[in-house]
Amino acid sequence: MTEQTIDLGPALKKYRKQAGVTQQEIAEAAGISKNYVSAIERGAHQPTANILITYARSCRFSLDEMVNLIPRSKVDRKNKQDGLDLLRSIGDGIASACFFDPEYHGLTDKLQYGNLGVGREKARFELPQMDEDKITCFVIEIDRVLKKNGYLFLWLDKYHFCEGVQSWIADTSLTVVDAICWDKGQIGMGYRSRSRSEYLLILQKPPANTKTWIDHAIPDVWREKIPKSNRIHPHTKPIELTKRLIGATTDEGDYVIDPASGSFMVLEACKNLNRQFIGCDIQFGD
Ligand SMILES: C[S@@+](CC[C@H](N)C(=O)[O-])C[C@H]1O[C@@H](n2cnc3c(N)ncnc32)[C@H](O)[C@@H]1O
Repeated sequence: MTEQTIDLGPALKKYRKQAGVTQQEIAEAAGISKNYVSAIERGAHQPTANILITYARSCRFSLDEMVNLIPRSKVDRKNKQDGLDLLRSIGDGIASACFFDPEYHGLTDKLQYGNLGVGREKARFELPQMDEDKITCFVIEIDRVLKKNGYLFLWLDKYHFCEGVQSWIADTSLTVVDAICWDKGQIGMGYRSRSRSEYLLILQKPPANTKTWIDHAIPDVWREKIPKSNRIHPHTKPIELTKRLIGATTDEGDYVIDPASGSFMVLEACKNLNRQFIGCDIQFGD
């Protein structure tokens, strides 16, 4: 377990309120007074192991989740909120993998690597954008919440794939270890060649080794056409590739994060593989 200081009182209060449990109910279940419960939640007294277990049982969260400060109410849900806020509410080193597909196009458009802003591409302009500073903040938080050896699967357009993402990762421990080209099986726009691909940069938290990657049959050019029925978001990514990558790098029950989920396709992949999902989108969700 990673070392971290936990402000237990406020965390217990938060979990209790989320679960709709009263201080009186905790007091009765733990055999202590309501005043003592209140003092614990103010941080005036440290809870004993028995009191912690009472909170965990009454408010239906595991001690592991509490210790790692994972907001249980956020797990396996389509959360509608800012991804940075969600990441900041998660403890250090809990996630085995993270998918991040930032929303940007300013530079891409200016440098004419693509042809955004016309026709079908117009829908993308209506999505909230992330500037370079914001993306860097996301990547720093992702680095913090990843386990040792954990993977960041970072979706890039052609511009960022060619120009690099050094400025996003400079203040992190992440190293680029691989890349996959996604052949969308469908031709798009372009000023020179016409786009049919997107790129997935694979980064790893130290120690960057292959011990936690168990599927060695994934090709680095992946062809997958998104069926029309799944095109519920202009940027939907290939679910079969996502499943293979989750299967290759995580175990059942592990946490997988996606702080800008769009169509919540990573959630679908996690459900399919019995992984726990923590993700959100600022514009989509429940
Ligand atoms: C490129 S799309 C992600 C598509 C997703 N990978 C999929 O397969 O559907 C980026 C998403 O980021 C969302 N977004 C923009 N700013 C955000 C923020 N600050 N926090 C969370 N989501 C944000 C947008 O609403 C958009 O849906």
